[in-house]
Amino acid sequence: MSSAAQTSTAVPAADEAAASKSAENEAAASKPAENEAAASKAAAVRSMFSEIAPTYDLLNTLLSFGLDSRWRAQAADAALASGSWRAGSVDAPQARADEGLGDVESRRFRVLDVATGTGKLAFAIKRRREHCTVTGVDFAEPMLAVARSAATRASLDVRFAQADGTALPFDEASFDVVTIAYGLRNFADPDAGLKEFRRVLRPGGRLVVLEFPPPRPGLFGKVFSTYFERVLPRVGGAVSGRRSAYAYLPRSVLGFLPPAVLAERMRAAGFSNVDYRLQTFGVSAMHVGLVPAAEIPGGPVSDV
Ligand SMILES: C[S@@+](CC[C@H](N)C(=O)[O-])C[C@H]1O[C@@H](n2cnc3c(N)ncnc32)[C@H](O)[C@@H]1O
Repeated sequence: MSSAAQTSTAVPAADEAAASKSAENEAAASKPAENEAAASKAAAVRSMFSEIAPTYDLLNTLLSFGLDSRWRAQAADAALASGSWRAGSVDAPQARADEGLGDVESRRFRVLDVATGTGKLAFAIKRRREHCTVTGVDFAEPMLAVARSAATRASLDVRFAQADGTALPFDEASFDVVTIAYGLRNFADPDAGLKEFRRVLRPGGRLVVLEFPPPRPGLFGKVFSTYFERVLPRVGGAVSGRRSAYAYLPRSVLGFLPPAVLAERMRAAGFSNVDYRLQTFGVSAMHVGLVPAAEIPGGPVSDV
């Protein structure tokens, strides 16, 4: 190779190194800004849900025409299904989301409901399998206060604790099932949440996510968007006295991931056999994914 050629390759290489260093520096410099933005979104979300806690359940029922209970019931069934759970969607035709889930009747079967709010999904699970240990966590204490009172009234033994879904106070592999209903889109960093759910799930464990996807194109999507953006903030604002909270709701839904993208993000976080089902014409969506059981030395765990 001529010295001219050597020079001409050496210079771009140096440039590349300098460019990559400067990109690294830029990334490092933008990290505190990102962290700050995430912290401020989390604080805003926490204070918003704390404010609307007293009217949250009433408005949920009212604004979803009672469908929210049905969507959570389907999530509770999917969380506990010991038979085959198949969404019947396009996403993972051969997936059996139940492989290795173990004995859901066992007292040692542990379910964690993240962003539990007033505990509705946690209660639905506990009602179905009394012997399971069910824990609900949320970072808004006033939502948990409503959940605790409801648990006492209904004599349901569900533990509630205040925690951020992106930094859960549990050891690795502490749960057989993690659920989250309508919480993930509120996370400042949903990917960090998914990774954290995977960390606390045992190999073979299952994640069930309920979320409102952005409205789909077409007539139904248009009608739904109009309801969501025009009617819902007015009714929500009038009943709760917090119009801004119910203006945030459509914004957060419009900005959230379409179902196929969320499925991809679950895979990127380490879940396998990811599958999803649209509920009520796609107003809500349920995703299910597994932590691969093959990762444990010695094979799948079955003694839950
Ligand atoms: C729309 S509510 C859903 C509550 C409940 N899961 C349900 O099905 O009704 C969203 C909940 O997520 C909680 N939340 C949002 N971000 C969170 C986070 N990073 N960690 C813990 N909870 C969070 C809020 O405090 C709120 O209670």
